[in-house]
Amino acid sequence: SQYQKGVKHLCEKGHLNAVPKKYILPVSERPTKSSVEDSNVVKQNLQLPIIDFSELLGPNRPQVLRSLANACQQYGFFQLVNHCISEDVVRSMIDVSGRFFDLPLEERAKYMTTDMRAPVRCGTSFSQTKDTVLCWRDFLKLLCHPLPDLLLHWPASPVDFRKVVATYAEETKHLFLVVMEAILESLGIVEANQEEDDNILKEFENGSQMMVANFYPPCPQPDLTLGMPPHSDYGFLTLLLQDEVEGLQIQHQDKWVTVQPIPNAFVVNVGDHLEIYSNGKYKSVLHRVVANEIKSRVSVASLHSLPFNCTVRPSPKLVDEANPKRYMDTDFGTFLAYVSSTEPNKKDFLESRK
Ligand code: SIN
Ligand code: FE2
Repeated sequence: SQYQKGVKHLCEKGHLNAVPKKYILPVSERPTKSSVEDSNVVKQNLQLPIIDFSELLGPNRPQVLRSLANACQQYGFFQLVNHCISEDVVRSMIDVSGRFFDLPLEERAKYMTTDMRAPVRCGTSFSQTKDTVLCWRDFLKLLCHPLPDLLLHWPASPVDFRKVVATYAEETKHLFLVVMEAILESLGIVEANQEEDDNILKEFENGSQMMVANFYPPCPQPDLTLGMPPHSDYGFLTLLLQDEVEGLQIQHQDKWVTVQPIPNAFVVNVGDHLEIYSNGKYKSVLHRVVANEIKSRVSVASLHSLPFNCTVRPSPKLVDEANPKRYMDTDFGTFLAYVSSTEPNKKDFLESRK
């Protein structure tokens, strides 16, 4: 249909005074309902826990690990500041993503496919082929592991695209590994400097990584639609960059609250696989994106998990008589097939497999 080319194209075709019907959500799902249960419209901003990465590597590590555990339990989200990725690398990634979406439609259309396993996939909405109401979002998804092979499939335009994204992918992968190690330690699974043969960290080195760049054009009626519907992420951790335009909201204590952009910081969140692995100690939390009436917005999410052929299961170290196993072992394929089926409710799936 005319909408499959995306919202950027839709906006460029002519001045839009109103959101087309196809994007209008039922009243009960509109973002003006800030409370999950009722319709009290309360605009609430949330100060997410802030984790100082440099402190994590210093003498205050034990305190920071406690803050990390608290953030993963209470919010499922935190902001990571003073990390090891330079401002230049971060800015270039946001910048090159914006320039990719600025390319003419014909150039971006080369990568439009419904093949979920394609190394590069451009698209619109959330689950493009299944959404009955479309979302106000265009995206570019890139598989990143193994990098040298996949790189060759990525767009070669803008000219610096591959170089910028490859550097960014390598550095976020490294950052993920260091943060993941800290998270395992915060769960009491890996002690500092411990050498272990069956260390899950070794598996993460060959783990899956997917980069998702999102573009949200200005929307004439942001109260009627969403940039992304409520969802949780499937992997272990997502490292998200947002530009200076707000839009991301997380569900916290039964309210939708906006995550304030902090320049150069990563918004890190617990994914479904970490929820399973931690036997429910850390929860993957629902989040969504609201559209903006004035400004366009760019974000880049780096999703990390085990290799695609791995089984995800609760860590035996977190299962005992007092804490019985809360999740069945889940292989990635079954999980993805389930979550990409119609009207998925992942939590039901996970709970039903106890
Ligand atoms: C997401 O990846 O779930 C949201 C990204 C964003 O903030 O745009
Ligand atoms: Fe997400």
